Amino acid sequence: MPDVIAYGGDWNPEQWPEETWEQDVALMREAGVNRVSLGIFSWSLLEPVEGVFEFGWLDRAMDLLAVNGIRANLATPTASPPPWFADTYPEALPVDADGRRLYHGSRQAFCPSSPIYKEKALRIAEQVALRYRDHPALALWHVHNEYGCHNARCYCDASAAAFRAWLRSRYASLDELNDAWGTAFWSQHYSDWAQILPPRATPSFVNPGQLLDFRRFSSDALVELYLAERELLKQITPGVPATTNLMAGAHWDMDCWAFAAELDVVSTDHYLIGARAEPHIDLAFAADYARSLNGGRPWLLMEHSTSAVNWQQPRNLAKAPGELRRNSLAHLARGADGIMFFQWRQSRAGAEKWHSAMLPHAGPDTKIFREVKALGAELAGLADVAGSRVEAEVALLIDHSSVWAQDHPAQPSSELDPVEEAKRWHAALWRAGITCDIAHPEGDLSGYRLVLVPQLYLVSDAGAANLEEFARRGGVVLVGPYSGIVDEHDRVRLGGYPGAWRDLLGVTVEEFFPLAEPIRLASGATGRLWSEAARVTTAKVLDTYASGEPAWTRNEFGDGVAHYLTTLLDDAALAGVIGTVCGEAGVEPAAGTVPGVEVVRRTRADGGSFLFAINHTGEDATVTTRDGRTVTVAAGDAVVVPG
Ligand code: GLA
Repeated sequence: MPDVIAYGGDWNPEQWPEETWEQDVALMREAGVNRVSLGIFSWSLLEPVEGVFEFGWLDRAMDLLAVNGIRANLATPTASPPPWFADTYPEALPVDADGRRLYHGSRQAFCPSSPIYKEKALRIAEQVALRYRDHPALALWHVHNEYGCHNARCYCDASAAAFRAWLRSRYASLDELNDAWGTAFWSQHYSDWAQILPPRATPSFVNPGQLLDFRRFSSDALVELYLAERELLKQITPGVPATTNLMAGAHWDMDCWAFAAELDVVSTDHYLIGARAEPHIDLAFAADYARSLNGGRPWLLMEHSTSAVNWQQPRNLAKAPGELRRNSLAHLARGADGIMFFQWRQSRAGAEKWHSAMLPHAGPDTKIFREVKALGAELAGLADVAGSRVEAEVALLIDHSSVWAQDHPAQPSSELDPVEEAKRWHAALWRAGITCDIAHPEGDLSGYRLVLVPQLYLVSDAGAANLEEFARRGGVVLVGPYSGIVDEHDRVRLGGYPGAWRDLLGVTVEEFFPLAEPIRLASGATGRLWSEAARVTTAKVLDTYASGEPAWTRNEFGDGVAHYLTTLLDDAALAGVIGTVCGEAGVEPAAGTVPGVEVVRRTRADGGSFLFAINHTGEDATVTTRDGRTVTVAAGDAVVVPG
């Protein structure tokens, strides 16, 4: 990572006549841009005919950047194979679960398991790497673009063969697979590996184990493609770091943990969903997730938008004045050392011409470009923030396998949404001024005081033991309902729910009772969507249903404490419970909180720290720092102060 804040966006000079480029870089310099992502969708121009390479325009673009002191996240353009590829190798196009082949004409039209796609992708990646290996503008490899954004799962015959190979490496025998998938049910017993298919359209519910493994396989297939490109790049340019832009928190098809383990620096994209209530809290979740994926180290925001996107139909909301700055500073506050946008210059043609950019259709004399320039100057002034870290005392557990398993349509309730529930718990912390990491259930929890488990339907034996160990050693735990229910193959943990954590929680549950209507608890709180018939074994009951059965319990376990909720509490009550467990764990907010004002701290290795206070409201606010100073943050403003 650079020792300044990287600032810029996707530059797509190939969409414009070369006369425009000089103006582009002059305006970039005016705006303080020091980094661009380049060549992401350029395969069809770099290799217009199979095996014929034309680099002239990219040479000139790279040279222009170098002369102007702007560095490049240079892409391997493998996210969008050219029309000649689809034409010559139609068998490499993706196929959906209904057997429909998807054609070229947009992007990512390839099967992730296609050998010919891999061969051609590696060849163009190699050409790019050999050409620019020593170019002074090259800072970082931007491998592909948003793996799996549109083609995360392919059901073609090549995918079927690759899926079988993946299963053979996961299971020692077909017997083991039959057992893991529970194929005695509905006469699904396999007697030959060749009988196994991707979960294509079936008359009724597909086997849950098959579905779950297919999602794991599909994510792994994308990681493998990344690794193949990365290995090639490392051979040619061993000193140049590589990344790919994840979609952490927004897109759940790819296992971000698996990807992150292979990136030199985690980069991610985040788009504000304007229709969400308080979308800036969703932003904070994505940013906290990105930082956690990078092991707490600074990460790179590869893309966000200056204003509206063009894909949240029916209404794409433009950002209000100041919102671009608040969004950018919120990412910075949560550990980003680079703030980048899609894209530099708003396209004139193509499917994203209505997507905002740093330089809009109307040109530089605009609200957006003025804000872009002001932000560039502000980030240059915040160069000292680069390299500092956000330290969280709370971890919130989430795992893709669990999300995927719960996605199977045959559930006790289709109204439970583990991602939204995790975001709701995260939002309660946000409002309390407490920053949390997002952690993998099997990750290292030893640095935390409090671990939250909003809804972890599936947990492996190792993950289950990890949480127990955390509590045994003195940690505080809060577990939400429908957690710890199944093993890693989506098989129920028997003997009373939640089978993974009956001892930890001191509770056993006999039956689930999804709720049609909210119900009132003894405390006056409301429970929604879900309830359980639970019985305490060693826990104490802190709140109950009208029946007297427990809704909230607390169990002392080893040197620690484990709380359990058997329903989805309303936001205020949930905030109260989270406040209680934060208190028990001794977790402190970054500063005194004011509703709607985001407070986060970044700390430098030398002990100096920056308090970010971002006012998302229309009223001026006064924030009190930990050492008792007061800081005024005007309506819609953001400040960064020592502390
Ligand atoms: C994604 C892609 C970009 C662009 C933006 C905006 O994040 O990576 O190429 O499509 O969305 O829609």
